[in-house]
Amino acid sequence: MDISEFNTLIRNRRSIFPNMYTGERVDEQVVEQMLENARWAPTHKHTNPWRFCVFTKDGLKKLADFQSKLYKSISSQAGNFLESKFEMLKTKPLQASHIISIGMRRDPAERLPEIEEIEAVACAVQNMYLTASAYGVGCYWGSGGITYVESAKDFFGLEAKDKLLGFLYIGVPKKIPAGRRESMDDKVKWIR
Ligand SMILES: Cc1cc2nc3c(=O)[nH]c(=O)nc-3n(C[C@H](O)[C@H](O)[C@H](O)COP(=O)(O)O)c2cc1C
Repeated sequence: MDISEFNTLIRNRRSIFPNMYTGERVDEQVVEQMLENARWAPTHKHTNPWRFCVFTKDGLKKLADFQSKLYKSISSQAGNFLESKFEMLKTKPLQASHIISIGMRRDPAERLPEIEEIEAVACAVQNMYLTASAYGVGCYWGSGGITYVESAKDFFGLEAKDKLLGFLYIGVPKKIPAGRRESMDDKVKWIR
């Protein structure tokens, strides 16, 4: 393995938002490699807590319809419905080639703290992000919309103790934007 290519891959990975996709379909084999690499994320007690649904083609419309209708019913009851948000939820998924819902399955025996299962899923998502980057494919982890709505979980095959953690949007990028990060100087302490 070329370590400098590896470093470049990590540092050049960017979140590529749906409005930055060309509209072309990403090769299914790339999505399969992303899922395969997700499988190799670290997992305490081997609970393998990741649960994904892959939406593509008509599935994107099903997701868009589901989340916009759910938003409408919840926000209408709460009296804070916004037409613009409804439209966004109904149309944004259609800009993607694939969308993977990111779910966490809670260990039934609760042998480890919940946060460790969330952490394992986040590692799996990073594996997918990096795999996509390596293939020149764009993706973006979005946690808006219906992500934290309890009643949404069933649609994604999740149970009461599980968690929906958001959506990985996937598409062919028009271009890769520059990234920015803060210095590590005030975030790392070396004790020697
Ligand atoms: C758990 C998680 C949830 C995120 N949710 C959103 C989101 O809802 N909306 C958004 O614009 N970006 C979201 N992001 C992406 C960040 O905006 C993005 O990582 C950040 O801007 C840095 O850009 P980069 O990933 O290209 O380096 C999320 C990232 C993570 C890790």
